[in-house]
Amino acid sequence: MSRIAYVNGRYLPHGAASVHVEDRGYQFADGVYEVIAVRGGVLIDGDWHMGRLQRSLSELQIRMPMSPAALNVIFRETVRRNRFKDGIVYIQISRGVARRDHPFPNPEVRPAVVVTARRTPPQSAKVIEEGIAVITQPDIRWERCDIKAIALLPNVLVKQAAREQGAVEAWQVDGDGFVTEGGSTNAWIINADGHLVTRPVENAILNGITRRRLIALAKSHGLKVEERPFSLEEAKSAREAFLTSTTSLVTAVVKIDDTVLANGRPGSKTVALRQLYMDFMSETAISGATSQV
Ligand code: PDD
Repeated sequence: MSRIAYVNGRYLPHGAASVHVEDRGYQFADGVYEVIAVRGGVLIDGDWHMGRLQRSLSELQIRMPMSPAALNVIFRETVRRNRFKDGIVYIQISRGVARRDHPFPNPEVRPAVVVTARRTPPQSAKVIEEGIAVITQPDIRWERCDIKAIALLPNVLVKQAAREQGAVEAWQVDGDGFVTEGGSTNAWIINADGHLVTRPVENAILNGITRRRLIALAKSHGLKVEERPFSLEEAKSAREAFLTSTTSLVTAVVKIDDTVLANGRPGSKTVALRQLYMDFMSETAISGATSQV
């Protein structure tokens, strides 16, 4: 079965789906995106993703191409046409098509919308049981990492560096020696007091939806969460570490560069947090509930 994409008003087989050569997303990376997990056909925390999408657009002065409700219909329809229950939806909105010129085109230019969706396999048993290794890289990104922009070159480079060094993710480190986030995930540690520590939401990181959900789940289970920067040094001596994202969920980190954390196995709190998140996804899939804390 051929995969179906939504492109500017039409549902097309991937082979026939394309954007204009002068799409500003293509020429200037002038656009934003979202990735939403789908479980049992339900968009997980869809409202929060929609809120972040609207914020990213507004920060870049790109108008919403249509109402959130109309966009939601397209997301669901794209999932339906690709005939899967568990996977992801990818949404990309660029400033539109116009003759190449850096400043914004005239206001009549319509933002361009692309939506794709695909089944994703369950997380590998090896990753769940053994955790993953991360390397570290200097954070060379711009100062608006809170915007989910499609301009991802620094992220591409650090993820490639990780792959070349046999790791899955690269934790980016700022000029003061503090971890910001991974190339496509948020970074967390658990300190000696058993507190969860993760960088606060500001311009240096993306306000991850999985991060936000996990904070709510952890707090409702009586765990203490410290939203503050942590140094690479602190991370390497942490009791446990993990990362979160829509596609990697909650994944244990057992090695940072050459430093093996604790006993080199996923920590017990991380395992419990992962389970909390998996249960939350399953419950949402059954109830069809939208984002609420
Ligand atoms: N990545 N930080 C960065 C830089 C990201 O790109 C992502 C998401 C996250 C986690 O955000 P969330 O929990 O909302 O997925 C943090 C997506 C999945 C991607 O680019 O594929």
